[in-house]
Amino acid sequence: MLTTQLIITTDLDALALKAAELFKTAARTHVDGRGRFAAALSGGSTPRAMHRLLARPPLLAEVPWEQTHLFWVDERCLPASDPESNLGSAWRDLLQHLPLPRENLHYVRGDFPPEEAIEEYQLELISFFQPAPGEFPVFDLIFLGVGRDGHTASLFPDSFALREEHRMVAAVKGGTPNVHRVTLTLPVLNRARQIVFLVAGREKAETVKALLEGDRPDLPAAQVKPAGGELIWLLDQEAAALLEKA
Ligand code: 6PG
Repeated sequence: MLTTQLIITTDLDALALKAAELFKTAARTHVDGRGRFAAALSGGSTPRAMHRLLARPPLLAEVPWEQTHLFWVDERCLPASDPESNLGSAWRDLLQHLPLPRENLHYVRGDFPPEEAIEEYQLELISFFQPAPGEFPVFDLIFLGVGRDGHTASLFPDSFALREEHRMVAAVKGGTPNVHRVTLTLPVLNRARQIVFLVAGREKAETVKALLEGDRPDLPAAQVKPAGGELIWLLDQEAAALLEKA
């Protein structure tokens, strides 16, 4: 049964701290319970403050990194050296500081042609999660952002990828920058045990209102409903500014 929670913080720094604590708690819970923790990170600017908090004390020492596996929700088809690469940003803010075994990093090959990158990433997902035929990976935690157009991951409005029901990964083109991208599909997102949307800034307030209080099931972020999991909307006050019930 889907449970939804709304958490509003004073500002982006408080949002980042709350998100990092959610990550730590989930990591400890799943490592204690099943010996490993599988999380997927989003790109964009919002998660970066959280990444930087996880990369330094005290949180750096409080996460069981040896048993933590990091994946990406989506990636721009760019080399990691490109400033717009999600892997590149995560490396600078987080990964280079972590005692994370190399084999625990499961990233999209942004340097491959898109069709090769999705095949390779899908093999990586299958190898790690070992889903039954026709089934999908089950992530313990997925962080998602939201664009002003209501996109999430690299699932953009009216995109064919929103209708994907069988593949775990899709190749699309769009967004800012408008480049080829590789993205997890809704069947994967909606099997997560926990999804946390991280949304900050007044420029997102209209979109947040449409998603949480409007009737916009057409928007990609509105289609993220982890049926058997927990959905947390983690907003700063600015992004929550237009919510009636906040
Ligand atoms: C990407 C992200 C994308 C992002 C939103 C919000 O690779 O672009 O995955 O879905 O989460 O566009 O981005 P900001 O956090 O920069 O507003």
